[in-house]
Parts: sequence; structure tokens; C-alpha cells
Amino acid sequence: MADTDTETTKPKPSRVEKLLPPPLRRPPKPGEGNGNGNGNGNGATGRLVDGAKDAPADLVGWLDERTGATGFLTGMLYRKVPKGTNWFYTLGSATLFAFVVQAITGVFLAMYYTPSTVEAYDSITHLTNDVFLGEFVRGMHKWGASVMVILVFVHMARTYFFGAYKYPRELNWIIGVVLLILTMTMGFTGYLLPFDQRSYWATIVGVNINGTGPIVGPYLSDFLRAGPEFGATTLSRFYAIHMMMVPGAIIAMIGAHLYLVVKMGTTAPPWLRAETKNKSAVAEKV
Ligand code: HEM
Repeated sequence: MADTDTETTKPKPSRVEKLLPPPLRRPPKPGEGNGNGNGNGNGATGRLVDGAKDAPADLVGWLDERTGATGFLTGMLYRKVPKGTNWFYTLGSATLFAFVVQAITGVFLAMYYTPSTVEAYDSITHLTNDVFLGEFVRGMHKWGASVMVILVFVHMARTYFFGAYKYPRELNWIIGVVLLILTMTMGFTGYLLPFDQRSYWATIVGVNINGTGPIVGPYLSDFLRAGPEFGATTLSRFYAIHMMMVPGAIIAMIGAHLYLVVKMGTTAPPWLRAETKNKSAVAEKV
């Protein structure tokens, strides 16, 4: 009896609201909440149906209690963004999306690729001609690489022209520069993998250009070639760099990059900052 009384007086949060932490939930309107979950007042069956509908939210609640994930997620997803943000602010997320596509398609390509000088070309020919959707996935990975390089440059240009590299975001700019270098390293090391004439000679040219760099240049080209000569181990080395070393570093750097984006907040567009400055200058004069 006591239970029923509490049920009838205390409104329950809706399923969507249950996903939000209590401080962000909408307060109940007068007369809302009939004590039967979400208002399916059909006695035991209604409660059963409501219980089943609430199961996903309850599961999220269970996980949240043990991980504290919503605190982090609400901090990230409900953070304040300045007025005037526009499509240019989506370029970072677009780059992230391109990276995720590259990672997923890359895993499928790796299932068929053999990093040996004798078999590499044939394994790619087999993947392209015989494997179901092989050509499509390879095409996505190949064109996706160019898309990611273009996006990373346009995103960098946006942060530069909006002055987002200035105090206090200098460290995020530096992490961004590392991400830019890593993205281009992905393109460079991936180019050799089909091991056809074009990729072979282009890589020789690229490695030689690296060798002309001051001080570290010769060491860098020796490292890339896995020795003084271009040989069989060069391909394994490029594959390891392309598949493990650089993606791992990119994931770590993106983590640090996004942490700083959330911590520092987003830069307001320069024209709005100028407007605010002008307004405060006028206020000071008055
Ligand atoms: C894999 C490459 C990259 C990914 C996935 C990435 C991702 C992101 C995302 C999602 C944001 C927040 C949304 C936005 O402002 O667009 C952001 C912000 C930022 N990124 Fe990147 N980024 C990358 C490369 C770079 C590069 C190359 C630079 C510059 C050299 C850079 C500098 C910045 C800066 C300064 C911000 C803060 C923007 C602000 O406060 O308005 N990022 N990045």
C-alpha cells in the first residue's frame, strides 16, 4: 500500500530523461506522472511494458553508476559554444570521421594484404579483382587518404584564420602540427604498399628527398629504408609504420587534441570577438 502511494505521488522520469543526469532533467509539470512509469496506466501489463521500454535506459544507468561516463559525456556534449559558430567549425570532426573511415577500411585491407616484395602486388590484385567489395573498400581507403589530407589542411587553415592558435591554445596548435605530419606520413608509407612500379619509384624519390634534410635527414632515410639500400625489409618497415606506429600515435594525439578542445572551449569567430571588444571599449569611454 505504502509502495503504491509513493508510486502515485512521485513522478518518474521519462526514458529519454533517464539518460540525463538528474540536474539536467526537466522538472515535472503539475499533474504529470501518474505513478505508472510513462503513463501506460494498464496495471500489471502496463508496468511490464514500461519496464521493458525502460530497460535500455536502466542499462545505461547501471553502466553509468559503475563508470561515471555520463559526467564526462555531458561535460563534453553539453559544453557551451560561442555564438556565431558555423560550418567551418565542423572541419575538425570531418577530419576525425575521415580518420575513422581509414582505420576501418584499413583493417579489412590488412586481412588480404601480404607485406612481402614477392607477394604484395599479387595480394592487392587478388583483393581488387576477386574479393567481394574488395575494389570498393580499396577505393574508399585510397580516396579517403586524399580526403583526410585535404580536410586536415582546411581545418588547419580555419584554426589559423580564426586565431585559434593564440593563447591559451598554443599547445593544441602544436599537437595539430604533429597530427599534420603524422597524416602525411600515413600517405607516404601507404603509397609503397601496392608495390607496383609507380609506388616503388615514387618512394625511392621520397626517401631520397628526406635524406637531404639537415642533420636528421640521412638518419631518417636510413630508418625508412631499414638500411643504406632499398630492400625487402623496407616494405615490412613501411607496413609496420603505416599500420601500427603512426595510427597509434594519431589516436593518442587526437585524444590529447580533443581533451584540450573540451578543456579550453571553442574560439569565437574573430568578427564577434572584435564586436565584443568594440562594445567594451565604448563602455569604458562612457
Ligand atoms: C588528424 C587530424 C586532426 C583532427 C582529427 C582534428 C580534430 C579537431 C576537432 C574535432 C576539433 C574541434 C572542432 C573544430 O574546431 O573543428 C579541433 C580543434 C582544433 N584543432 Fe584540430 N584536428 C586535427 C588536426 C589539426 C591540425 C593540423 C591543426 C593545426 C596545426 C589543428 C589545430 C586545432 C586547433 C587550434 C583547434 C581549436 C579550435 C578552436 O578553439 O576554435 N588540428 N581539431
